[in-house]
Amino acid sequence: MNILILGGGGREHALAWAVMQNPKCDKLIVAPGNAGIAQIAECAALDIMDGTAVVEFAEGESIDFVIVGPEAPLAAGVADDLRASGFSVFGPSKAAAALEASKRFTKEICDAAGAPTAAWARFTEAAPAKEYVRAQGAPIVIKADGLAAGKGVIVAMTLDEALAAVDEMFSGTFGEAGAEVVIEEFMEGEEASFFVLCDGTDALAIGTAQDHKRVGEGDTGPNTGGMGAYSPAPVLTDRIAERAMAEIIRPTLAEMARRGTPFQGVLYAGLMIRDGRPRLVEYNVRFGDPECQVLMLRLGGQAFDLIQAAAEGRLAGERVTWADDHAMTVVMAANGYPGAYEKGTEIRGLDGLPEDSFHVVFHAGTSETDGRIVASGGRVLNVTARGKTLAEARERAYAMVDRIDWPEGFCRRDIGWRALS
Ligand code: AMP
Ligand code: GLY
Repeated sequence: MNILILGGGGREHALAWAVMQNPKCDKLIVAPGNAGIAQIAECAALDIMDGTAVVEFAEGESIDFVIVGPEAPLAAGVADDLRASGFSVFGPSKAAAALEASKRFTKEICDAAGAPTAAWARFTEAAPAKEYVRAQGAPIVIKADGLAAGKGVIVAMTLDEALAAVDEMFSGTFGEAGAEVVIEEFMEGEEASFFVLCDGTDALAIGTAQDHKRVGEGDTGPNTGGMGAYSPAPVLTDRIAERAMAEIIRPTLAEMARRGTPFQGVLYAGLMIRDGRPRLVEYNVRFGDPECQVLMLRLGGQAFDLIQAAAEGRLAGERVTWADDHAMTVVMAANGYPGAYEKGTEIRGLDGLPEDSFHVVFHAGTSETDGRIVASGGRVLNVTARGKTLAEARERAYAMVDRIDWPEGFCRRDIGWRALS
């Protein structure tokens, strides 16, 4: 098969790595890709937000199957354009991508499906929103309705913070995404991510993970796209995963199908777990980045068979073959991230690193100039390892980190602390 992956981060490198191990893959193109992906697949310059351009490209390259990595092209309807032209595609329609693109939509689906989630209300003006906040009290959570690159959520611990957050949302900081605001009950507990493949009707759980969103050790400092992740998440036990499937995921899929907008792709459920009970924090309609990196390392080549079964409505007969293992990824970011950071600094020492089914360095933001690998983004490398225990995976990951010669980059040294302590 000729396979096309849309995207160019660590998530797409991990997907490409898994696809390349599947014997069905004859040719793999990743658009736009990055310097790490270019070592295992063909990379192509392509505007992945432009459905017409993507369809033309896929036709020209005789593509048989497309995997859409990030949420933005999904929310823009690129998967619909491809399907309308006869391509087999992994990823939801624009209508179903609203599960990530609109927080209000997700809350309405949860209510209709009876899925446990935080109590909520929606507002289009500041005054009634503030009135609601005063009535509810703090802590409370203020969210821009639309996609805001992970920045549209403010967890306010005090009333003053909450009122300021409402002002900020309506001041236009988040553009269109903030025109509507969802205010939610603050949920206590431990967070974990649950990844489920969906074919519109059936669902197959493919793993759990936890990530570290804050830039600083001990989970402090500003939010980032994720500084590291590990799988499985010990807090998300089999029992809780079954509850999440029965109480949250399956009712959501049924409600989406009932509305005529079945969900096909990967549903990434952020869960808040307390006293053995999962509640939904949010849905994403794509793999997490960097959570995908640990999932792919654990699944290997079978990941593509499952992805294809989801796209073709054949999940009912599928099973995941699990090794009893653990994986960890450590994100190396450019100094200054998530604030302003330098681009174009050289990364050395990657060549001598082990590369096998236990060790892979996925590239997130790199490019190649004159044979040198240089940093081209905020999050730059995802140093990923697998082991019999999480401690072993961690040891292997940091042993690689220590051999990478990149003074202009940094990482957190405590990835996995919650699970390991
Ligand atoms: P998001 O950008 O939607 O991933 O949300 C960012 C983070 O805000 C989540 O990962 C949670 O840690 C936190 N959060 C969102 N909603 C709630 C809630 N209702 N209660 C507690 N924490 C929340
Ligand atoms: N790592 C968080 C995300 O992909 O949304």
